[in-house]
Amino acid sequence: TVSLSGLQAFVAEIGLGPIPSFAAADVLHNPIDIYHSYLAEVFRALVECDPDLVYNSIQPANTVGNGDLNIVLPRLKLPGTTPKELASELLKKFQPHPLFALPFKDGVHIRFFFSPKSIPRLLFPYINDRKEKYGMDASLGMQNDQGSRQKKVLIEFSSPNIASEFTEAHLRSTILGAFVANMYEAMGWEVTRINYLGDWGKHLGLLGVGWQKYGSEKILDNQADLFRYIHDLYAKMEEELQPEQDARKRAREDGQDFATMESQGLFAERDATFKRMEDGEPEAITLWKKLRDISVEYYTTVYSRLNIKFDEYSGESRVSLDSDAVTEVEAVLKDKGIYEEQDGAWVIDFDKHGAKLGTATVRKNGSTTYLLRDLATVFDRLKSHAFDKMIYVVCEQDVHFRQVFKAVELMGRVDISDRLQHITFPKASGQSSGGSSHLLGDILDQCQFRMLEAMNSNPEEYQFEDPEGISKVMGLNFLIVHELSLRKNHNSSLDFNFMASSEGETGIRLQMSYSRLCSAILKNGVHPREDEINNIDYSSLWDEPWSELLRLIARYPEVTTSAFKTLEPGTILSYLFCVVEQISSCLDDADEDDSEGEGSTVGSKYAARAVLYDSVRQVLENGMKLLGATPFNK
Ligand code: ARG
Repeated sequence: TVSLSGLQAFVAEIGLGPIPSFAAADVLHNPIDIYHSYLAEVFRALVECDPDLVYNSIQPANTVGNGDLNIVLPRLKLPGTTPKELASELLKKFQPHPLFALPFKDGVHIRFFFSPKSIPRLLFPYINDRKEKYGMDASLGMQNDQGSRQKKVLIEFSSPNIASEFTEAHLRSTILGAFVANMYEAMGWEVTRINYLGDWGKHLGLLGVGWQKYGSEKILDNQADLFRYIHDLYAKMEEELQPEQDARKRAREDGQDFATMESQGLFAERDATFKRMEDGEPEAITLWKKLRDISVEYYTTVYSRLNIKFDEYSGESRVSLDSDAVTEVEAVLKDKGIYEEQDGAWVIDFDKHGAKLGTATVRKNGSTTYLLRDLATVFDRLKSHAFDKMIYVVCEQDVHFRQVFKAVELMGRVDISDRLQHITFPKASGQSSGGSSHLLGDILDQCQFRMLEAMNSNPEEYQFEDPEGISKVMGLNFLIVHELSLRKNHNSSLDFNFMASSEGETGIRLQMSYSRLCSAILKNGVHPREDEINNIDYSSLWDEPWSELLRLIARYPEVTTSAFKTLEPGTILSYLFCVVEQISSCLDDADEDDSEGEGSTVGSKYAARAVLYDSVRQVLENGMKLLGATPFNK
């Protein structure tokens, strides 16, 4: 029934005529649109209006208890009668319909509830046909202008700086970026996940100096943890550079000549090493490459613990080393008169070009800057990927990205700048209780370890056969949900103290609910075959709290579509926590019911529950996976 003809056959089976067709309806992806279409058809027979206008005057309710679909009469803009009068008039004319309970009037609205009898019969086969695809919509990624073509999006996220600390900013970019990528994939786009490593610049010169001073192949051979060695080496070099940094800062504050200080000591060594890299000196490049490879290897392993796989580890080095993009960009900038020389540096004065973005340095002391590298990367990627859209998920840096986008525009490429988007978020405030972990792997270890501790301290709550195994998944789910909640709510740093209880809107709560549902499925004991789904007596689900849970899962595709528009994980999170809440009401009810002994509708009741549980489990699973979390069935 995933096709339209299948769907038609299936509604015929429940005694309905063909699904009426409306431009805005998406009956293949959203079961509520089936109701919507039938209601619009009935309504259209009662008023003289354009069919699409009629369809669009009907709105899904956003609060429970306000009906499932509402006709908003003022939207029809009918002459003559007032919407209120019209509402009373129309209300009398509605005939009973198998999909709807009797409507009621509410001011200028007419509100309709889905008939509780119809929901299971419509929804269960619908979800069962789609399974992990329920809530996804592959058609949204199709470009229809020149034949059908899948649209391409590049999503750049995480992007740590090699050897430096993996900060909370990178952590959130990682988790949010993975979510955005999942979202696009679910909606049918071809997604390329790119990690734009900070693998070029003076800090790599400093690391190179460190290697020359302290490192050797032999030392490397004896390291169990190569990445940690490099990271520590870099930290050591930063420490050594600190006195010079301080002296320069003092000189600057005292109005002395601080620039020449940079041409001495470790500063000078660092810059010389970086210069050798920029000049492509083989020895410098070999060393740089070795350090980079170690980092990529480390990150690939650690990201896989979060189920994240990058299609590409590019980085700032790419355009610096082997691409014509930098030359081409600078040529256009000069050509268009956007580029100007100031004190030996090349800059863009954005204010002059009508954007209040100050003056930005594009090339300094002969070297490319962060801005130029980003600018060149846009064109480099355009060549290699021909993207329809590119999204940067990066903490703060608003001005930087506005400069990049504006520069692309000034180069005369509005067609390209229109495809670029920066998803930003503020830095976390407050002290992290995540400890002093500066490596991503350590942060993940901490999550697992603290989860295990929390589980051990509360064995009543956390009854699992394999606490070690589940603490791994739950710890990471906790982290993911925490990071994704931040955009919406507060901005606090990671706090492991939440782990001790399963209360609150945490990843632990999602997992606990999922686990409880899985055990309820086992305990329920009935497993109807797929071909039996249509013939089960669902009357035990017509009342609260069951009917409410059904309504909720019917709305899932609407939730994912709206989350896709805003790319706000909060939309999905709030929805999932509503589902979780409703699951526990239902399971509490079922437990109580079971302890009272068996009623008369026994067989069908368990079969009905079995189908419901299975559908709800599917929705919870789809939602969690979209967030990047892993539902764990134990
Ligand atoms: N490596 C940068 C940092 O750690 C983030 C890179 C963001 N992406 C970009 N295209 N500039 O701050």
